[in-house]
This record gives sequence, structure tokens and C-alpha cells, in this order.
Amino acid sequence: AAPTRYEAESTPAVCSGAIDTDWTGYSGSGFCNGSNSTGGYLQFTVVAAAAGTATVGVRFANGTSTARSAALLVNGSTVQSPSFEGTGAWSTWVTRTFSVSLTAGSNTIRLNPTTSAGLPNVDYLDV
Ligand code: GCU
Repeated sequence: AAPTRYEAESTPAVCSGAIDTDWTGYSGSGFCNGSNSTGGYLQFTVVAAAAGTATVGVRFANGTSTARSAALLVNGSTVQSPSFEGTGAWSTWVTRTFSVSLTAGSNTIRLNPTTSAGLPNVDYLDV
């Protein structure tokens, strides 16, 4: 089936920072610019029709030359430790995919930055 898109700027997503529109190329009405701190998280609530492995696409931009590391949590447990590389510009968006286990129904998928640089800007999650 085609993935469902969960925009970072829209409920039920929670962006611990600002919803910004100052860099072009985002989908929907903006993107999450989490605060530059380890507290600058972004959490999505996604619905899975059935339990099992799902491919999760994170569309992000990192206009710095330093990768931004994060913990990827599903339903409160860290399942991966992605590092979001520099994309060349804040207006250059890249999608990284992850394979995660979901339960049937509602699941939280959360990115917690692991350094004070915070997360990259995040546009959406495709599940
Ligand atoms: C710049 C950029 C922001 C970005 C921030 C960051 O301020 O305009 O969109 O979020 O850098 O370093 O995270």
C-alpha cells in the first residue's frame, strides 16, 4: 500500500521547537525546527493496520556540514541510532528510511537528539 504521510507540523505530531517555513521545498505547511538541545525532540503518532515490520521514511534537511545524531524510539524504546548527514543546504531535503517493528493500532515514533546540536529540520514521516 502507499505510505501514509504524517507532517511534522500537524497534530498529532509534537515538535519541541518551532514550526518554520523559511526554507523552501517542504511539504504541507511547514517543518519542525527542533530546538538546538538534547530536549528538542519530535514525536509522531502513527497507526498501523497490523503488527509487523514497517518502513519509515524521515524527510529531513541539515544545512550544516556536521551530521546530527539521534535516537529513534518506537513506543518508548530506542530501536536505532541514526545520524542525519549534512544535506548541503537547509532547503535540500533528503529521505532516509528505517525498518521498525510496529504494533497494531497507534504507535509513537520519536526522534530524540543525542547532542546539543539538536535534530535536523524534519518535514514529515512516511509510514
Ligand atoms: C539555522 C536554520 C534553521 C535550523 C538551524 C539549526 O538557524 O535557519 O532552519 O534549524 O540553523 O542549526 O538547527
